Formats: sequence, structure tokens, C-alpha cells
Amino acid sequence: MAELVQRYLDEILAEHADVADGMLADYIPELTRVDTAKCGLALELTDGYVYESGDAATEFTIQSISKPFTYALALDGIGRDAVDTKIGVEPSGEPFNEISVDDQTKTPKNPMINAGAIAAVSLIPASSPQDRFAQILDFYSACAGRRLEVDEGVYASEKASNSRNRAIAYMLQSFGVLDDDPDEVLDVYVRQCAIRVTSADLAGMASTLARGGVNPTSGRRAISPAAVQRTLSVMMTCGMYDSTGDWVTSVGMPAKSGVGGGILAVLPGQLGIGVYSPLLDANGNSVRGVRVCRSLSAELGLHFLSVTRESRSTIRATRDVAPRIRVYELHGDLLFAGAEQALRTVENDSAAVDVAILEVSRVDDINDIARGMLAGMRQSLNESGKEGFLVDPDRRVMPTGSRSAGAVVYATVEEAIEAARAYRDVQTGSANWVG
Ligand code: DON
Repeated sequence: MAELVQRYLDEILAEHADVADGMLADYIPELTRVDTAKCGLALELTDGYVYESGDAATEFTIQSISKPFTYALALDGIGRDAVDTKIGVEPSGEPFNEISVDDQTKTPKNPMINAGAIAAVSLIPASSPQDRFAQILDFYSACAGRRLEVDEGVYASEKASNSRNRAIAYMLQSFGVLDDDPDEVLDVYVRQCAIRVTSADLAGMASTLARGGVNPTSGRRAISPAAVQRTLSVMMTCGMYDSTGDWVTSVGMPAKSGVGGGILAVLPGQLGIGVYSPLLDANGNSVRGVRVCRSLSAELGLHFLSVTRESRSTIRATRDVAPRIRVYELHGDLLFAGAEQALRTVENDSAAVDVAILEVSRVDDINDIARGMLAGMRQSLNESGKEGFLVDPDRRVMPTGSRSAGAVVYATVEEAIEAARAYRDVQTGSANWVG
């Protein structure tokens, strides 16, 4: 059943296979030594299940996607009020590397532009720059769920061509934002930007934010819920720089891009996304990455403002009504993540179950993608010699029509059980066998 979702992701990536617009970030020379054809996508559910498509294992540098994580570390390190005295939370309306501070407060406008990100580094309590970087690397690794490393080539390349960020760091010192040595702070910032990740790592980091700060694979808390909330808020308003308005309306997930070609997006409570494609638009966002995210949001129904009441607690109960026949009672509002969870549960049970009956009469609301997934369940089950039925008394959840094509729908659980018994008996060649 997971292959149903896998197919959706592969198709979305294939839709954008020909996109070749955009430019590499040549102000960091080492970033031009990449294969521009690479394109990776990973999606991690908040229970830690990962889907990967395309070049999801290709490594690239995290660049600005580091910014929300260092900001979160600063929030947990010294508290929100102390951070707020040094970094604002307003969109800047300027390029990410603008040499500017807020007119009134004389502090960086937000932590997603370079000025705010450099300030955030300086706020992490540490005994030395080495200690500060070690904390950052440990923290990103805990969020990604594996040990991350620095790309020394990219680090050296940015370090050697870093006049603009030096100007920003010294400006911040002159305004009293940086208490530590600007060159030392900047060195940590450049190292954090050069940390290597894959799309799958980004999906894990995003999923950690989606789960309120707990890494889904390790089950360990990496960030406090309050820091996650604040960080996601700033990602929402400032994460995609001057394309933020377009991003929020067309994709609708807190996100962060990096000039390495990565994009990380979070659907709180549900999933995290990592995308990679190196060619960038004028704002420094991956051209193909943005298009893939638009399609994902539209086709899987991921816009955060369309998230309804109960997106996680989908399976209310399961009942074994006869040998190898199980009824799954679904409830609440069924969106992509809920349908994915239901289908994966059915798949995980398949060693013990021949016929899965999904009782959907208590589902309040369902979107098109979830409807298509439930309808597609039967075909996936059939391919492995199993069967799946739906119970939808007034066909409110699965109306007759193309989106429900392939689904076998009964009006009552009893009717579905009867059909399940008949199916099982034919399969086992034991029509007289009493189940
Ligand atoms: O400081 C810089 O300019 C880079 N290390 C990071 C910039 C970046 O990724 C902007 N985002 N799209």
C-alpha cells in the first residue's frame, strides 16, 4: 500500500523532470560544482515512516535551512525574551544578504535573513566557538536522526568569498547586537551553512518540527514545543524571503530554502518534506523545489489552512470479526496523512489479515487525495492476493464517481463481512468451512 503513496511522489517528481530554469549560487564558487540535473524528494510522517523519490540520498549543503534550527537552539538556550532583544520577527522585504537592521530597533529584522542568522549564532551559550559549533552540529544531527558532517570544500569556498557577511557581522557589532568577536561568530555561521544533508535528512528535520520537537525515529526531544512554535511562525512569514506571500498562498506550509538547492517544509502534526534541486530563482529558492512543493501541496491536499479537526487519530478501533477478516473503524477528518496511516496499518497487518474492511461511516470529512487512496487500497490488496472493502452507508465519504473508482462499497458492516467470508472461502477453497 505504501507503493500507492510512493507512486504519487514519483509522479509529482516526474511532472517536473524537465525544469531546467534557474542559476547556481556562484557567489560561493564551490556551489557551482554540482550536477544540476539532480532532484530529490523525501517525505517523513510524524511516526517516522519515510518515503523517498529520485535523488533523495544526494548530499548538498544545508545553507540557509540551518537558520531556523540555530534560532530554535538560541530560543531554548537563553529564552524567547532575551532572543527578542537581539532579533526581530518581521518580514524584511529585502534580499537575504541585505546589509541592514530595523530602522527603529537597530536589530536584524528576522532570523531567516543572514543578519538575523549570524546574530542567532552568537546567542547560543557556549564556552568557545568550537563548543558553539559542536552544539549546533549535535542539534542538527539529533533532528535529522543521523550524524551530519561539514563539507570542508564548501566551507573554505564561502569563507574565502565572504565580504558581504563580514560587513553584516561588523555592522551588527557596531549596533551592539553581537557581543562576541564578529569573525569568530561568522566562522561558526559559515560552518553551519556547510553542513551536508540529503533530502531525507531534511524530511527528518522537518518531521521533528512537525512533531513539536521530538525526532520521530529516535523518539527523543530535541527542541521545546515553545521554540518549535516560534520557529515555525517565523518560517511561515519569512522563510522563503520575498516569495513568502506566493509560497504561503500556493503551498501553505512553514518552510525554509537554502542556496545549496534544498527546501524544507513542515505540515505541523502530520509530516515533514525535504526537496533538493540546485538551480535557484532570483530570491535564492530552488526553482524546481518550489514547483515540486506546489504540486505536493495541491495534489496531496497539504495546505496548512485546509487542515481540519482530527488529522491523526484516524483509526478509532479494529475488530477481528472472523478468522483473517478485520474491521477498521475510521473517524474524524480524513486527509493525506490520515489516509496514509490507515493504509499503512492495513499493510502492516497483512500477514494476519486476508480481508480488510474499512468502516468509514464515522468519517466527518474527507478530501480528494484521501478518497483516491482509500479507493486504491483494494487494487494494492488484490495484487498480493487479498481483498479490501469499504462500509459507507449513504456513500457520503465515497460517492459514486471517478475518485471512488475501484472501491467496493457496502451499506453495512454485516454485508461487508458476508462478502469477506465468501471471498476468503473461495481463496481457501473451503466453502463449507465455518469461520
Ligand atoms: O550566508 C550565505 O549567504 C549562505 N551561506 C546562505 C544563504 C542562503 O542559503 C540563502 N537562502 N536561500
